[in-house]
Order: sequence, then C-alpha cells, then structure tokens
Amino acid sequence: MQSNTRWNNNLAFLLAATGSAVGLGNIWGFPYKAGENGGGLFVLLYIFFVILLGLPVFMAEVAIGKIGKKDPVSAMINTADKTNSTKNWRVVGYLGILSNLFIGGYYAVIAGLVINYGFISASGFIGKDPTVIYDTEISSFVEMTFWFLLFLALTGFVLARGIEKGIESSMRILMPTLFFLIILMVGYGAYRGDMSAALSYLFSWKAEQFSAATMQAAIGQAFFSLSIGMGTLMAFGYYMPKEQKVPGASSIVVTADTSVALLAGLAIFPLVFAFPFLDPNAGTELVFKTMSTAFAELGAIGQFVGPLFYLLLAVAALSSMISILEPSVLWVQERMPTTRTRATFIVIAICIILCLISVSGFNVLKDFKVGSLENPFEMMKYIADDFLLLLGGTGISAFVGWRLSKIIDMEKLGFKSKLLFSAWIFILRWVSPLFLMVIWVLGNLERIFFIKFF
Ligand code: TRP
Repeated sequence: MQSNTRWNNNLAFLLAATGSAVGLGNIWGFPYKAGENGGGLFVLLYIFFVILLGLPVFMAEVAIGKIGKKDPVSAMINTADKTNSTKNWRVVGYLGILSNLFIGGYYAVIAGLVINYGFISASGFIGKDPTVIYDTEISSFVEMTFWFLLFLALTGFVLARGIEKGIESSMRILMPTLFFLIILMVGYGAYRGDMSAALSYLFSWKAEQFSAATMQAAIGQAFFSLSIGMGTLMAFGYYMPKEQKVPGASSIVVTADTSVALLAGLAIFPLVFAFPFLDPNAGTELVFKTMSTAFAELGAIGQFVGPLFYLLLAVAALSSMISILEPSVLWVQERMPTTRTRATFIVIAICIILCLISVSGFNVLKDFKVGSLENPFEMMKYIADDFLLLLGGTGISAFVGWRLSKIIDMEKLGFKSKLLFSAWIFILRWVSPLFLMVIWVLGNLERIFFIKFF
C-alpha cells in the first residue's frame, strides 16, 4: 500500500472536507443569494435543507468513498460490485468527473478575479473609480486569463504534491488563516459598518419575495456549498481512517460550512450598509464592485482591509479548487496509469481550455446567448451547478439508499441509533432524490425553454 492512501489522523479529513466546503460558494455566493431571495426566509430554508437533505447526502457520498475506492468511477464500480448492482452505476462517477471539470472551468475564473482585486485594493483607490475598475478588468480577455492561470498554477502545485504533502499540509495553514480572517472581517464590520442593518437584511422576513425559485436556490446552494455530488467527498472519505465516524465527522464539517456562510454575510453587509449609495442587491458583482467601493470609501484603512478581504476569498477559493480537481486527478492517474504530476498536468490543461471559454463570456463573447443563459460563463456555471451536480447528487443518494444500505454496517459507519440510521436511509431513498429531481426538471425547463410554472 502506498504511504499516502490514508489521512494521518481524524483531523485531516475534517480540515480537508471543511476546506473543500468553505469556498466562493460561501463568501461570494451565499450573501448575494440571501439578499436577493428574501433574506431571513431564504436563510432559514437554506439551513433547513442543509440539515434535511445536505447532511444525509453528504454522509452518503463519504460512505461510498470509505467503502469503495478513491476515484469516483472506481468507487462506484467497486461498491456496485459489492452490492451485486449493475455496473451502470459508474455513470454517477463519470458525471462526477465531468462536473469537476466544468466547475473548475468557471470557479478558477472568479478566483483569478479575486486575486486581481487583492492587488488592486492593495494599491489603493485614490483618484480611481471602483465601478469603472470592474468594467475595465473584466473587459480584458488577456488580463483575466493571466489571473486564472496564476490561480490554476497554485492549485496544480498543491495537487501534484499529493494528498498528504499537498492537500493535508496546505489545509493545516489555509483553514486556520481562513477562520482568523473571517472573524477579523466580521469584527471590523461591526466596528466600522452598520451591523444592525446587515442583520435585518439577512434575517428579516421578506415573505413577499418567496417563490418556487427561492426554494430551488436554497437547495442548489446547500448542495454546492457542501461540495456534494461529484466525488470530492468520495475521495476524502476513502482517505478517512477506518475508525473515524462518518455521521460525527460530517456534522462537524456541515456546521463549519454553514457558520462560515452566515459569518460571510455579517462581514460583507455591515460595510455595504455603511454607505447608503451602495446596493446590497448587486448579485455576483457584490464582492467585487460593491465591496471595493466600500474599501475605497474607507480611505487609508481600506487599503489594508481590502486586501485582507480578498486574501480571505482567495484562501477559501484555493482550498476548494484543490478539492474540485482532486477526483479527476485520481481518475486520470488510475486510468492511464501515470504519475500524479502528469495526471495533474492533464487535468489542469483541460481546465484551462474550459476557463478560456468562461473568460470569453465576460468580454469577447459576452453577447453569445443560449436560451436564457446570457453568455458562455453562465453556460459553464449552468452545466456544472444546475445540470450535472444535481444529477450526481440524486445518483449518490439513490445508490446509497437503495443499494449500498444493504451491506452497510451501521455501527462501523458510526451510527449509534437504529432510528437515526433508518431515517437516514429513508431520506436517501425517497426524500432527497424527489426534491433534487423536481428542482432539476423545473430549473432546466426554465433556463433552457423559458417554461415557468411558478
Ligand atoms: N463547496 C465549494 C464552495 O462552496 C465548492 C466546491 C468544492 C464544490 N468542491 C466541490 C462544489 C464539489 C460541488 C462539488 O465554494
């Protein structure tokens, strides 16, 4: 057995899985979606779906990895074999690999923009207009490409070093840094910004904004934020020490992830509300255009707080990006077979091509529409988040619920109560596949064919 086939201790899984879960989804995605979708109602729904569907499917994915093999395709084939199920379940593994690449194909572009903004805010905003900066930055294909390449080079470096030297040791630095930075940002928001306006924006009840789309957004966000649906958690589950308990470890990661999402809202909105002319509903531009305007308004201190904020985002993005590509690297390595370094190169190369397509959506091809998808960047995001991930999540849930549950040793997996175990299986069999499929169908009808029911 290779020396790097298991984590060294229980902490390693917790760090790596939290590093994976806490990412742009929490700090860039959650706050603006909460703002747009009814504030407190969205937040409550989000937490409800995290507990009802997210945690159970998260555990299911980890369980497949722990019982099966490391890359998602072999893990599915292996566990299908063990349960006398058809090998066709490997489709779930292939869907996972595809999702890796498509998510990577837009995630790195946003992360590149984050790094770019780190430098911009460090050089200060005197004599510059932050709103103009944003438009200038995204209009340059070459510049955006430069920044995502830099980010992918960092990702590739960690990935090539392998699970222990690369992932485990980088998480030991990245995770504490992330928690420190976010607490610092919330503290600064409370000191300098308008915390009570932020609290009421995030948590007050805006029932009139509720629609089926809110529910769809809450479920999608819950799954994405927890890194469910494409084999990342299978890979990490595989590396888990044998005695580590899946339900306990999963609950810790899920709690940490949800806390960071809420903290991110409390770091961002107090500063947004400190300046009446800023719009909390800026959507995807919130952390860029809006926040950099806030940093500019803060004057000299902004030149210090701004880079810290973007460093926080970059750290979160890097630890997630590593986990996004890890399953593909494992698969290529196994499939070829080849060295880890070469497998990393191949995966990063494919990711670069997809990122180039995404970047074009900001500038050269920004008017290229398909259905209601505005540009190639939106398409990449749609294929990954709304199409592939939800299918993967459904497959994982159904497979564990209907097949793997037959051979799972409840106590070995870490369940103490029979009742909880049965509830888990029930959710995996009936509840989550149903919810996921309904939002998948509705979402696709709406995005591609403009058919809307609610
Ligand atoms: N959860 C991460 C975020 O919130 C993104 C991510 C990492 C992811 N690995 C994943 C999403 C696997 C889905 C599947 O930014």
